[in-house]
Amino acid sequence: MGIEMCGIVGITGTKQAVSVLINGLERLEYRGYDSAGIYVNDQTGQDYLVKRAGRIANLKSALTPEIQGSAGIGHTRWATHGVPNEINAHPQYSADERFYLVHNGVIENFEQLKQEYLADVKFQSQTDTEVVVQLIDRFVVDYEMDTKSAFLKVLHLISDDSSYAFVLMDRQTPDTLYVSKNKSPLLVGVGDGFNMVASDAVAMLKETHNFMEIEDREVVIVKPSGVVIRDFDGNEMKRDTFRVDMDASAADKGTYPFYMLKEVDEQPVVMRKLVQEYLDTDGSPVIEPELLSRMQQADKLYVVGAGTSYHAGLIGARLFERLTGIPTQVFISSEFAYEQPIMSKKPFFIFLTQSGETADSREVLVNVKKQGWPTLTITNVPKSTLSREATFTLLLHAGPEIAVASTKAYTAQVALQAILAKGLGMAMRKQLAIDFDVKQQLGLVAVGMQAIVDSKDQLESVAARYLAQPRNAFYIGRGIDWSVALESALKLKEISYVQAEGFASGELKHGTIALIEDKTPVIGIITQDRTAGLTRSNLQEVVSRGASVLTIASKHLAQPDDTIVLPDVDELLTPLLSVVPAQLLAYYTSLGKGLDVDKPRNLAKSVTVQ
Ligand code: AGP
Repeated sequence: MGIEMCGIVGITGTKQAVSVLINGLERLEYRGYDSAGIYVNDQTGQDYLVKRAGRIANLKSALTPEIQGSAGIGHTRWATHGVPNEINAHPQYSADERFYLVHNGVIENFEQLKQEYLADVKFQSQTDTEVVVQLIDRFVVDYEMDTKSAFLKVLHLISDDSSYAFVLMDRQTPDTLYVSKNKSPLLVGVGDGFNMVASDAVAMLKETHNFMEIEDREVVIVKPSGVVIRDFDGNEMKRDTFRVDMDASAADKGTYPFYMLKEVDEQPVVMRKLVQEYLDTDGSPVIEPELLSRMQQADKLYVVGAGTSYHAGLIGARLFERLTGIPTQVFISSEFAYEQPIMSKKPFFIFLTQSGETADSREVLVNVKKQGWPTLTITNVPKSTLSREATFTLLLHAGPEIAVASTKAYTAQVALQAILAKGLGMAMRKQLAIDFDVKQQLGLVAVGMQAIVDSKDQLESVAARYLAQPRNAFYIGRGIDWSVALESALKLKEISYVQAEGFASGELKHGTIALIEDKTPVIGIITQDRTAGLTRSNLQEVVSRGASVLTIASKHLAQPDDTIVLPDVDELLTPLLSVVPAQLLAYYTSLGKGLDVDKPRNLAKSVTVQ
């Protein structure tokens, strides 16, 4: 069946394709890592297909020096249906070995296409992709169509609800990449003497900084000498290039053992970057007036996100309500998509998404747009799908986040929502917003984050002592400390596989406390004046049931035996600090267990299926 989330890279021109493809795939490995493959053609009739189950490292070790070419395609896969084995890995190819195809997405009507056109063909894989490539071959060989027409014909036959990013190669036109996309990310990289295509600009940054967008349902012909884009009716589309100035090394691990640790360490820099991008010298937010005016007209803000982004939204809702007085509600995107609540009269939607590609969130955006409501996407990836499709975009400027466990994107989302809430509150002349010195506070946050990341040794030994053995753990807190508890627990479970829960500390005694056993770790987050005493009482309740209690407390609320003491910042921004020790505790627990911190089992960075 479908291969829904994966990374694609292709190149044609003067470069050695194999190293470019492998390098690109390594950068895309965050998108999926259970099998990988490349196809290269040396333009003199010699071509090579290499596929392996498992990580890209397996594919690399299968490569021999004679495997060379100047055009090729590569793929790294995260399977949701069909075993992640060599046969199901991409590229898929036609039975006569003329056509090779990499694909991201799901062809919903592949069974029907198979029965209608390919009933006599014996398939070797379980993939919908093989159906597509065999069908292209059928139209070329049996119906004598040229490759471009056959490709277009198949694109027309694919049902509208399907998603795809395709890059096709034909042995008979070996310098040409045939490209199309629908709902799955793909963009062109423009070079000198070569051109490329990939799911994400980071896969091409080593070769070029100039890119070209591809819209849904276009056919793009990529040759060494140029790129031609047409719509499905054959009209040529003019497309400007845009430049991404990011340094390729921004997506490198450098001397870090794992991306996650690098990304945790980068958080103070990201805070300063947001100050620089969004606040002027006197600390006033610099935000598009039209965005502020549309938000001001709203009677309710709807914040939508998944996973960590949803957790950042929980903090954002608090910030918007306090600083602007506009009622704000947060939704898990996959829930909202299927059960739209009764809406207020003038809603305004804020989508939080690090990648800008999350299918669940996009589903909501598409529906909301149909109903004519204004939308803002807060994302880390310029030109990403949700960014392009929303009325407004604000960028996180956090630099590429590669580790599956999101860290700096979360803190950037919280900080940017604080800036936006301040800007909106000021525009509405709300005194609390006027008094909230977000610039000064984010400066304090950056310094505080630095102090926490500098205390790694302490966090490493806490993780070794309390989290290495137990199967279960709890983070508890009230209000925004509870919201951080949810994110902290997600971090721990996704990379260390400890069954962790984030809990409202007052709620524990209403049932879940039954799970507390001797030495169950319970980590209390204590940063809010109003709730500190109550959370401490709740911690006492679990101490008496044998739990090993740890605390993450703000300095002015700290007691002598607190485990981690956070520098003081405004109560609205404490999540930016309290989450950092939790990120590092998760990191060291995973590391201590010898797990692959950046690529936890069963997960992929960008979830482009619903
Ligand atoms: C968390 O560490 C995960 N990476 C995951 O929960 C993620 O936040 C979620 O899949 C949403 O992704 P997005 O922010 O790119 O939309």
